[in-house]
Amino acid sequence: MRSMKVVLAAGAAAIVLAGAAQAREVKVGFIITKSGGAAQFGDQIEKGARLYMKQHAKQIAPHTVRLIIRDSKRPGGPIAKAAAQELITREKVEILTGLVFSPNAMSVAPLATAAKVPVVIMNAGTSWIPSLSPYMARVSFTMWQSGYIMGEHAAKKLGCKTAASGYTNYPPGKDSVAAFARGFAAGGGKLVDSIPMGGPRDVPDFTPFFQRVKDKKPNCFYVFVPAGNHASAVVKTFRSLGMDKAGIRLVGPGDITDDTQLQGMGSAAVGLITTHHYHANLNTPTNRAFVKAWKAAYGADSTPNFMAVQGYDGMAAIYHVVKSFGGQKITADGAMAALKGWKFNSPRGPIMIDPDTRDIVQNEYISVVKAGQGGVLMQEVTGTFKAVKDQCKELKVGKCAAK
Ligand code: PHB
Repeated sequence: MRSMKVVLAAGAAAIVLAGAAQAREVKVGFIITKSGGAAQFGDQIEKGARLYMKQHAKQIAPHTVRLIIRDSKRPGGPIAKAAAQELITREKVEILTGLVFSPNAMSVAPLATAAKVPVVIMNAGTSWIPSLSPYMARVSFTMWQSGYIMGEHAAKKLGCKTAASGYTNYPPGKDSVAAFARGFAAGGGKLVDSIPMGGPRDVPDFTPFFQRVKDKKPNCFYVFVPAGNHASAVVKTFRSLGMDKAGIRLVGPGDITDDTQLQGMGSAAVGLITTHHYHANLNTPTNRAFVKAWKAAYGADSTPNFMAVQGYDGMAAIYHVVKSFGGQKITADGAMAALKGWKFNSPRGPIMIDPDTRDIVQNEYISVVKAGQGGVLMQEVTGTFKAVKDQCKELKVGKCAAK
C-alpha cells in the first residue's frame, strides 16, 4: 500500500515536471515608436497589446509571451532594421511585431525572409507591404481600404464634382491619394490638384499648401497625414483659412480624426467626414466592452484609437499562433499557415487575414464628427462597407500586382 502511494506520488511529480518543461515563454520582438512626436503611436499600440495579454493569459497557458520592446524612433527604416536584426540574432525572438511607419516595415521585410521569422504588422499601411516578404501578415489596414471608398463616396454621395488632395510625402501618403484618385474617378469626379506636404517626422506649417487648394476652389479636399499631432494641425489650418466657409469639404481617412486628438481639435472638427476601420465611438457590444476595459486599465480620460485596436488584435493573432504551435518552437511557414484565414471578432468588427494576400479584410465605416453633450466631440457612423479587401491588390495597381 505504502509503495503504491510512493509510485503514485512519483507519477504525479513526473507529470507536473513534464508540464513545466513544456511550458514555454515565447519571445516577441516589438518594434514601435517610443520617442519624439510619434511616441503616442507606440503607446497606443503597446497598451492595446498589453490589454489583450492581460485579458487572455489563459488562452495560451501554460505558455506565456514576453514582449521585447525596441524604439524605432523615426519614420525611416534604418533604426527599425537594426532593431529587428538585434532581436532576431541576439534575443532570438520567435515573432516580430509592431511596426508603426511603413518604411519601418519595408526595411524589416528582407530580414524576415532571410531569417524566416514571422512578422505581424500592427500599423504600417502602405498597401503593397505584405508582398515584400512571404512571412508578413498585416492586422492593421491598407491605405487603399479607406482611400478608394472615400473617393467614390465623395463623388457619388457628397456631390463633389472636383477635388484636390494633400498628403504627407512618403509611401502611405502617396498610396492614400492614389486610392482616393482612383475611387473619385470611378465615381465620375475630377481631381484638380495633388500636393505633397512635407515628410512624416515633423508637423509642417500646412498654410501654404492649403492656401493653394483654397485658390483652386475644389468641392472636396482629401487629406492624408499620419495621425496624432499632424492631424490636429490639418483640421485647425483648414478652419483658420476659412476653407469651410469657402465651400470646400474636408474629407480623409480616419487618421485625420484620430480619437486621441479629436477633443483638442474643438469645433473645427465638426462636420468632418472620414472613412476608417475604427474609432472609439463604434456602437457595438464588442467595442463598448473594449473601451470600458481600456478606461478601467488606463484611466477614464484615456481613449483608445485605431492603433490601440490594432495592437489588441495583433496580439490576438499572435496568441492564436502561439496556441496553434502548442508549445513547439514557432516557424515562419507554420505561423503564416495559422494566420491565413484567421478570423477574430475585433472591437472594430469582424476581421480576417486574407489567405491569398496575408492582408486584413475588415469593415470600413463612413463617419461624421458631431458635437455631443457639453461640446464633447464624437464620431457617428453613417455608412458601413463590410469585409473590405485591399483594392490596390484587387485592382492590381502598380506594386500591388505582385503577391
Ligand atoms: C504608415 O507609415 O504606414 C502610417 C503611419 C501613420 C498613420 C497611417 C499610416 O496614421
